[in-house]
Amino acid sequence: MRTALIIGASRGIGREFARQYRADGWRVIATARKEEDLADLTAIGCEALALDVTSAAECAAIAARLEGERLDVAIQGAGVLGQRSQGLEAPTEEIFDTVMHTNVLAAMRLLPAIGPLVANAGGRLAVISSRMGSIGLRNDSSSWLYRASKAALNSVLADAALELGPRGAVCVAFHPGWVRTEMGGAGADLPVEQSVSGMRATLAALTAKDNGSFLNYDGKQLTW
Ligand SMILES: NC(=O)c1ccc[n+]([C@@H]2O[C@H](COP(=O)([O-])OP(=O)(O)OC[C@H]3O[C@@H](n4cnc5c(N)ncnc54)[C@H](OP(=O)(O)O)[C@@H]3O)[C@@H](O)[C@H]2O)c1
Repeated sequence: MRTALIIGASRGIGREFARQYRADGWRVIATARKEEDLADLTAIGCEALALDVTSAAECAAIAARLEGERLDVAIQGAGVLGQRSQGLEAPTEEIFDTVMHTNVLAAMRLLPAIGPLVANAGGRLAVISSRMGSIGLRNDSSSWLYRASKAALNSVLADAALELGPRGAVCVAFHPGWVRTEMGGAGADLPVEQSVSGMRATLAALTAKDNGSFLNYDGKQLTW
């Protein structure tokens, strides 16, 4: 049975990944930080593990718990927008730390542990980034802290791809589209089901030459 690890599966895009992979017959290991969300994930057939991605101790505990697993798919989707801003508005240190720790440092702690488990299975590793992190496509400076965090996450993914690609993993950064979740809001373009089914189809079709790509949910290449 194929195994997927979904980090940040309490709601939104992460939960939909867990739901769809389960519905497709996969074994799903899914993380959340609240008891009620862990219970919900268990109820839909996932192996639910507690993880606040900003906790170094909890990231280390997850790494130990997963040792020996072979992951066909691993998704790091936990993320925060932080403070919405317009133009060059300095963030507080507290908000800077929350956004950078959640969106960047967590991946730098988790990918070294999870990546080899994906490589051993010849699997696919994805981070849920954002087109807002693209420097080449940049035409708007709103929420610049979030943009900076996703640009940094893209850099982390590029390095992970260099390390893990030769060992058998295919590593990509996704823009999931503008998706109707708590973060995306009710006015967003896409239902979460469509975004996630698109990313799952894209993941399933990846080959070694796609390692280190920045992809739209439907598989189109994006400029870094
Ligand atoms: N929606 C969009 O249009 C859109 C567009 C581009 C990129 N993205 C990216 O897609 C990813 C998922 O977003 P979404 O739209 O599904 O947003 P969402 O509904 O707000 O969900 C965010 C998820 O991240 C988790 N999370 C946040 N901080 C965490 C922490 N410290 N530890 C563990 N989990 C944490 C949340 O868990 P809790 O329930 O415990 O808070 C929740 O599961 C994010 O990385 C986001 O930046 C979304």
